[in-house]
Amino acid sequence: MNSPIDVVVMAAGKGTRMKSRLPKVLQRLAGAPLLQHVLATAAQLQARCAVVITGHGAEQVEAALQSSASPLAMQFVRQEPQLGTGHAMQQAVPALADDGLVVVLSGDVPLTRADTLQALIAASAGERLALLTIAFDDPTGYGRIVRQGDQVQAIVEQKDATEAQRKIQEVYSGIMAVPARLLKPWLARLDNHNAQGEFYLTDIVKFAVADGVEVVAHTITDALQVAGINSPAQLAELERAHQLRVAQALMEQGVRLRDPARLDVRGQLECAQDVEIDINCIFEGQVRLGEGVKIGAHCVLAHCSIAAGAVIHPFTHIDGEKTGVTVGEGALVGPFARLRPGAQLGPEVHIGNFVEVKNSTMAKGAKANHLAYLGDATVGERVNYGAGSITANYDGANKHRTVIEADVHVGSNCVLVAPVTIGAGGTVGGGSTITKSTEPGALSVARGKQISIANWARPQKKKPS
Ligand code: UD1
Ligand code: CA
Repeated sequence: MNSPIDVVVMAAGKGTRMKSRLPKVLQRLAGAPLLQHVLATAAQLQARCAVVITGHGAEQVEAALQSSASPLAMQFVRQEPQLGTGHAMQQAVPALADDGLVVVLSGDVPLTRADTLQALIAASAGERLALLTIAFDDPTGYGRIVRQGDQVQAIVEQKDATEAQRKIQEVYSGIMAVPARLLKPWLARLDNHNAQGEFYLTDIVKFAVADGVEVVAHTITDALQVAGINSPAQLAELERAHQLRVAQALMEQGVRLRDPARLDVRGQLECAQDVEIDINCIFEGQVRLGEGVKIGAHCVLAHCSIAAGAVIHPFTHIDGEKTGVTVGEGALVGPFARLRPGAQLGPEVHIGNFVEVKNSTMAKGAKANHLAYLGDATVGERVNYGAGSITANYDGANKHRTVIEADVHVGSNCVLVAPVTIGAGGTVGGGSTITKSTEPGALSVARGKQISIANWARPQKKKPS
């Protein structure tokens, strides 16, 4: 029962029906490659190692996994050519220790739950061959579970099955748990004398029965957990089904979703009490929403943390990739706002429409309500940053900081050429291009003086001659 768990993930298949250059197991569900979902589940089992069998697109698959941070010890084995699931497992044998319990998973079956696999592992108990099975109204294409009385006798593939066997609704899911010391000699005995001329992993059931090893089936009813992906349509279908489950789990925690069918979570969304989310929002990576946060319709929020009471109005795009974005308590953002990496908004900050903030901190109560850009800026408390104003933070080679001290009022359509500091309580007249730092309390105006020519006659259009 306490054997270490070694996971083998079959991921050599081509996925022809995806009609994609990307290997099937790297297609994305909920923002992550299919294979990554499988490995995340394996990690939840506290597996000792994961052996990934690659074939089609092997370099791409291996590179994708090496760049992802997985807590699992991973090994890759190549299967070339692909001669069947049994042949795939034969390639994994040198990578498997004899004392392990081997859990066989498929790289294109992303939504199996860890507790289901735990139950399968318990059913194997380190000494039996345990199969994950499910009954389908239409079992066409699957390996059928042939029983005598209650006892599992064999798995018969669709193409090898008799008419009577094809009527069996209980099928093999493609997932099993089997002690390595039993598995290895069985794999050595496989042949390809069957309708497809393939080495079938499923033939080990017959060997177990012949060797007097008990074969047990752990049967589930939740088809989503064993659903494999072969086509874009199936991928989209599984995505929706998965998203609906995520939505249901959020609602069970008390999150108010205007429409659970119009939500996409591609990562981890953590919500405190009384969060409200309007339709068509997308959450990516790690997103935290504090108590009472309201997210308007059509927002995209990635890698960010929104503090209690903040309101994100519709069509706002927040992307904190790498450095994160934080929005303070009671802040108001949007509609049509854009917060980029390193935007750190304090409490009660207001960011209005068509305002972009990047790598800038805004202290409590600072406001930029219309059509503005703040990049590499440090903005003090209660600053009012006028419509159309920008920080010129980039000289073509380097980025420079703009410091706007507390209580500054920047008029409309100003250019603050960094590096520059606007002293506390100062005022910058509308339309100014500020290139030198200003003293606290000063009014600074830097623009062409207005002239007015009295009774000026506008040029007239010439009449055609
Ligand atoms: C297999 C099972 C079948 C089961 C079904 C569940 C066998 C012989 N049959 O069917 O009983 O009902 O899964 O979906 O095992 N793969 C490789 N190398 C190969 C062949 C396959 O890595 O040479 C991988 C595929 O990429 C896939 C997995 O193994 O991830 C299953 O292969 P697939 O062809 O989908 O399974 P079937 O043969 O249809
Ligand atoms: Ca096949």
